[in-house]
Amino acid sequence: MSLDVARLKKDFPVLEREIDGKPLVYLDSANSSQKPQQVIDAMSRFMETSYGPVSRSAYQLAANATELFEGARQKVQRFINASKLEEVVFTKNATEALNTVIQSWGRANLHDGDAVVLTQMEHHANIVPWHILSAEKHLELRWVPLTDDGQLDLTHLDQLLDGAKAFSVTAMSNVLGTLTPIRLLTDAARAAGAISIVDGCQFVPHNVTDVQAMGADFFAFSSHKMCGPSGIGVLWGREQLLEAMPPFMGGGNMISDVRLDGFDVAELPAKFEAGTPPITEAIGLGAAIDYLDEVGMDNVRRHEMDIAGYTITMLKERFGDDITIYGPDNVEVRGATISFAFRGIHPHDISQVLDQTNVCVRAGHHCAKPLMRILDTPATTRASFYLYNDESDADALANALDGASDIFNF
Ligand code: ALA
Repeated sequence: MSLDVARLKKDFPVLEREIDGKPLVYLDSANSSQKPQQVIDAMSRFMETSYGPVSRSAYQLAANATELFEGARQKVQRFINASKLEEVVFTKNATEALNTVIQSWGRANLHDGDAVVLTQMEHHANIVPWHILSAEKHLELRWVPLTDDGQLDLTHLDQLLDGAKAFSVTAMSNVLGTLTPIRLLTDAARAAGAISIVDGCQFVPHNVTDVQAMGADFFAFSSHKMCGPSGIGVLWGREQLLEAMPPFMGGGNMISDVRLDGFDVAELPAKFEAGTPPITEAIGLGAAIDYLDEVGMDNVRRHEMDIAGYTITMLKERFGDDITIYGPDNVEVRGATISFAFRGIHPHDISQVLDQTNVCVRAGHHCAKPLMRILDTPATTRASFYLYNDESDADALANALDGASDIFNF
């Protein structure tokens, strides 16, 4: 193992919690991750000692709060290797970041009948905003299909991109765990004259992120899946594109002037940050980045390759044909988010039985209903691992699945 997980676990107070005398086995980090003490402390300390409004008031407390808030933006810039600070926009979450691009860039740049390419493994945040825009613009949505092992089938990518205006694609599937070949995809989009929008909310918490190397035009992710608080996300976009886009939401902070007959927008990134931003949450995100930096994202990735490999092999050896794992087996092209079907038992029943031994997994459609239809199932059970999980958590999952078999008489 590349990480000292036993030591890392101690950083997450909630993982010390026992319910009915049994330890917590948290395997739902693709949904939302747990928070280390360092993040909890940074947010409490800020509220206890330094809280103030940002970018508005001249007194010292507010100036200090603004410095800390902008410091968090600098941490994000460095963490994702954005070339300019102005390109880092704070949003409420990844969904709001994607909606900002799709509604703002899309409404300004797409015309009746234009084609946009998506993939069949997108989650709702990268599908529904396109449907909303389509109702107005009558877009042609084209879908990159999947291979049998849950990777993108790129056989006809050039045809799909031919004449398209945008390619909006996840960097990692929240259901299948599949990592998509982002650079290849953004290169193909650029060659076809389309912009690329990358949904990074499952990717950023688990991999080294370099938006410049990825070659994307826009990139979205959330804080709450990467050890930070909920309530803050990030939109990164190329300065030129962000400059040319109309604002998404109107209000305070995003203006340079307001008159009775109109308004002028503020400079980037304020132009896309209407209203009071998530101030304490930005401090928390900055602390989460410090924490992940110290662990090392390359170590996190290596650890998750190990734990994904261990879990997939162990579950297959133990349950044979009784378990179907969706997505690729090869850990080079997948993360440690593992969806499966087990002995014909409904995922909701499985998750309830697992809960009896405090094994927390997500069961359902995972906000990816079109993908569920392609997998020909209404729901899957999903165990998603993070830096604080090790083989003991995978073994607890398998033991709890045995328990489910007993209850349902298999
Ligand atoms: N947060 C959602 C998930 O669990 C999308 O994957």
